[in-house]
Amino acid sequence: PRNATRDDDGVVALAGVPVTELAARYGTPLFVIDEDDFRSRCRDMVRAFGPNARVHYASKAFLCGEIARWIRDEGLSLDVCSGGELAVALHAGFPAERIALHGNNKSVPELEASVAAGVGHVVVDSLYEIERLEAVAGAAGVVQDVLVRVTVGVEAHTHEYISTAHEDQKFGFSIAGGDAMEALARVFEADNLRLVGLHSHIGSQIFEIDGFEIAARRMLALLREAIDKFGIERTAQISTLDLGGGLGISYLPSDNPPPLDEFAAKLRGLVAAEAARAGLPEPTIAVEPGRAIAGPGTVTLYEVGTIKDVELDGGARRRYVSVDGGMSDNIRPALYQADYDCRLVSRTSGAHAVVARVVGKHCESGDIVIRDTWMPADAGPGDLVAVAATGAYCYSMSSRYNQLTRPAVVAVRDGASRLILRRETVADLLSLEVEE
Ligand code: LLP
Repeated sequence: PRNATRDDDGVVALAGVPVTELAARYGTPLFVIDEDDFRSRCRDMVRAFGPNARVHYASKAFLCGEIARWIRDEGLSLDVCSGGELAVALHAGFPAERIALHGNNKSVPELEASVAAGVGHVVVDSLYEIERLEAVAGAAGVVQDVLVRVTVGVEAHTHEYISTAHEDQKFGFSIAGGDAMEALARVFEADNLRLVGLHSHIGSQIFEIDGFEIAARRMLALLREAIDKFGIERTAQISTLDLGGGLGISYLPSDNPPPLDEFAAKLRGLVAAEAARAGLPEPTIAVEPGRAIAGPGTVTLYEVGTIKDVELDGGARRRYVSVDGGMSDNIRPALYQADYDCRLVSRTSGAHAVVARVVGKHCESGDIVIRDTWMPADAGPGDLVAVAATGAYCYSMSSRYNQLTRPAVVAVRDGASRLILRRETVADLLSLEVEE
C-alpha cells in the first residue's frame, strides 16, 4: 500500500496507525483498508477515462455500506450483481440511478427490486431475462434502460476460470453466433425496455490492451449492423460502450501492470478510432473496475501461531508458518493458484531469511496463503504478518469454513482507524440455528 511506513521501533504503520495497535484493538485476522488509497484510485480512474466516460465500481470485489458511501462521494457509479449487493448499496444511501444490475441469472425478485428502486440500467444477459424484465417493467409502469451483454470471442490473457468473453461460457449473447442481433431485436420489440448500450467483459487481472481492442471493434461492428438493420431512429439512443472490468494490479513486486493513464488513453484512442472506422459517432465509454480500485490498498493482518520445519527431497528445508486465518478469508491461492506477498510487520528482524510457506488454520493442506516466500528465521508465535493487496475478492469471497468467524474490516486514514465491518462472533454462527 501507498501509505505503509516502518517506525523507528520496527513496527509498520498503515496510514500512520501502527499494526500492533490495530491488532490489539480489533484482533486478527484483520482487513485494513487505506481509505486514501481506495479513494485516490477512484479519482485516478475518473481522471484517466475522462469526464465523458462512466466508471462503475464492481461491487463484487468488495462491498459494504462504507465502501458504497466512498464510491458515492467520489462520484462513481456502482455495479451490483445480486439482490444482496443491491440491498447493501441502497441501505447505504447509494443513489439508485447510478446503480447497474448485472448477472446471467437474475431472479424475478431481483429484477423487481431493481426496477422498483429505479436503477440506472440493467445489463441483460439472456432472452429469458429480456422477457422477464419487460414484464417487470411493464407491471411497474416504467421504461427500463438496458445494455445488452455480448460475448466478443476474446480470451483474455488470464487464468482460465476468470476469462469470460470466449464463446464457451455462460455469460452474454454471442455476436458471432447471431444471438446478439436477436437480443437487440427483442429489446427493440419490448415496449418497456430501452436499449442504451452494449456491454462486454473479457476477463480479470488483465495487463494487455489487445483484448479490449478486439472487444471494442466487434461491439462497434455489431452496432453498425444494428443501425443498418433497424434504422437510425430506433438505434439513436444507443450511446454506451461498456468494456467491463479487468484491469490488473500488482500482487508481487515482479508484477508490472500498465500505468492507468496510459492504459486509459490507449483505450479511449482505440475506441475513437474503431468508431470512426465503423462510421459511428464516438460512444460514451463505460468501465467497471473492481480489483484495480479495491485491491491494492488493503492488507490482511494475521498473527503467527505455530511453526513447523520440513525437510524436502534433496535436503532443502521449508518452514510452515501458520497464521490465524487462511482459505476462509482468502480463497484465491487455493482457487486460482494466486500469489501474494507478505512481511513481518510487528518488528524488524536481523535474522537470516528462511524458505517459508504461510498457511492458514483450516483442516486441509491446500489452505495456503503464500506458497513460497522468505521469512526471518526468528519469526514465530505472536508476530504479526501482513499480506498485501487483499482488498479485492478476499473478504467478498470469504466463507465460514470450519465455522471460523469472518474477520473485521477497518479503515485507516490520517493516523486514525475505524471499524467498517465488525468481526463475526460465535453468536453470529449460532444465529442461523433452528432451535428444537
Ligand atoms: N464487470 C463484470 C461484468 C464482471 O464480471 C467483473 C468481474 C467486473 C466487472 C470486475 O472485474 P475486475 O475489474 O475486478 O477484474 N474472483 C476472481 C475475479 C472474478 C471476476 C468476476 N467478474 C478473482 O478473485 O480473481
